[in-house]
Amino acid sequence: MKLNNCHNINSFKHLAKKKLPSPIFNYIDGAADDEVTYRRNTQSFDDVDLIPNVLRGVEDVDLTTTVFGKKISMPIYCAPTAVQRLFHFEGEKAVAKAASKFGTMFGVSSLSTVSVEEIEKISDTPKMFQFYFHKDRALNQDLLERAKNSNFDVLALTVDTITGGNRERDLRTGFTIPPKLTIESMIEFALKPSWFFNHITSSPFELPHLQNYVKEGTNTVTSIGEYFSTMLDQNMSWKDAEQLNSKWGGQFALKGVMSVDDAKKAIDIGCSAIILSNHGGRQLDGSRAPFDQLKEIVDAVGDKIDVICEGGIKRGTHVLKALSLGAKACSGGRMYLYALAAAGQKGVEKALSIMKNEIERDMKLMGCKKISDLSRNNIIFRN
Ligand code: LAC
Repeated sequence: MKLNNCHNINSFKHLAKKKLPSPIFNYIDGAADDEVTYRRNTQSFDDVDLIPNVLRGVEDVDLTTTVFGKKISMPIYCAPTAVQRLFHFEGEKAVAKAASKFGTMFGVSSLSTVSVEEIEKISDTPKMFQFYFHKDRALNQDLLERAKNSNFDVLALTVDTITGGNRERDLRTGFTIPPKLTIESMIEFALKPSWFFNHITSSPFELPHLQNYVKEGTNTVTSIGEYFSTMLDQNMSWKDAEQLNSKWGGQFALKGVMSVDDAKKAIDIGCSAIILSNHGGRQLDGSRAPFDQLKEIVDAVGDKIDVICEGGIKRGTHVLKALSLGAKACSGGRMYLYALAAAGQKGVEKALSIMKNEIERDMKLMGCKKISDLSRNNIIFRN
């Protein structure tokens, strides 16, 4: 299969599987325990049907929406994800450039392989920095300052990784960052020569935001689970989140809120938005899918805070269903990551263009000319 033959988000997954050494593919594709939540994230959208209206003159459709006080060209953006240069040598740069080309927001992780300073130079759309709250307060302060000085628009504090998820595929494949050189991994690399060639000929793997603070930033092999469990502060509290928000002093979101109680507390500590997410099913298996939980959350807090729906989004219709229920926007990780692995910036552009075309076509078929035309009148729950 080639990029030209990719006509939907799922098709990039097949291409990514062909290109990537299996531990890396399975790191992206895998999730926690039995991966029930991972599967449910996408399946949840099938429990709701769209009800179109007709004869509405829909030749011109406006897909723009405003999130975090910034206008973006479509109601979906690239969620922050870690270690992207392992997936394709262009890494976060590819995603930043593609998102800029499409005029949508993108996120950069504390565990990114390109620095916020580098990203600032190449992007001109709203940027989110995904903050991991470390035990090391000096590192936290440095992350905050670097994101601020690099003019990031949004700080998203990740709240669903208080300890490492049980990612059994990673345990089976022995996935580490950076990849370990073992007999098994050498065989994997030999089977994917173009990935291996690009990996060893591009600049050395690093985690530029961490390297002055933790040995994991300086090429010590670790697993993501171990990193979360040992480096992050398991005592992180609402008070910490509130203090971080006030130090940041700008648009601030909690990423990984799922309960109504927490959504209300997010308002109390002055968040601009909450991102409904279960970390792509990679943390607590059996936790509810964001789309399943969306109605309850929007009913409770949707008039006071922006609610973003993240998880399992593969189709334009998924975005339309979430927006109809009251989400302000959607975000996706694997939505563009398989495409990044498949073809770098070109791949991410293709993924974003597929999403954009699907959303635009589906809006027309729904009889909607602008995002605010979507409402609960457009959907019905089967049960
Ligand atoms: C993960 C983190 C790093 O899910 O976001 O692997």
